[in-house]
Amino acid sequence: MIYRKVYVSDMSPDVGQKDVEQILMASRRNNAVANLSGLLVSDGRRFFQVLEGPLDALEACYARIEADTRHRRVHLLAKGTAPERAFGNWQMGHANPAELQPLVRDSVFELTRLLDAQAPERGDNARVHGLLETFLAAAMAGSLVSQTGSPVVGT
Ligand SMILES: Cc1cc2nc3c(=O)[nH]c(=O)nc-3n(C[C@H](O)[C@H](O)[C@H](O)COP(=O)(O)O)c2cc1C
Repeated sequence: MIYRKVYVSDMSPDVGQKDVEQILMASRRNNAVANLSGLLVSDGRRFFQVLEGPLDALEACYARIEADTRHRRVHLLAKGTAPERAFGNWQMGHANPAELQPLVRDSVFELTRLLDAQAPERGDNARVHGLLETFLAAAMAGSLVSQTGSPVVGT
């Protein structure tokens, strides 16, 4: 059985591209061993991450991520079982929102807006669910990336 967690968070002050590269390196090394896959989207301000795999490994990894001081206000958007992996080929793919197909990008931006305390959608599970469905369906259809954008980097 495959389980999945999706969250958004705020990057901590002074966290930059170099930190993101280190996070990706550690993620790919650990996730390969733990049979986890996923995608990390970062725009310089926030993270959006989908992480999927066996329950025990997923929970252990998420606990480490939650405690990581390179980001804060980690806000879980979704958790549960998944019929199949959406990012089966990636130990941890990485994308900048600018590289994503417009529809997908809009869904990520809307999701990250949920972090804002005043966002009207905050706590609206149906809305969150719909946006995530759009995002995951695009991932499974292999159409996350814009035709004109650079490719999402995965391993
Ligand atoms: C936004 C974000 C995403 C992360 N994603 C992962 C991940 O997918 N897998 C992982 O093992 N660590 C991830 N980490 C790093 C963990 O918090 C932790 O630093 C790392 O797992 C420690 O691994 P190490 O002991 O091998 O250095 C992430 C950290 C941040 C801030």
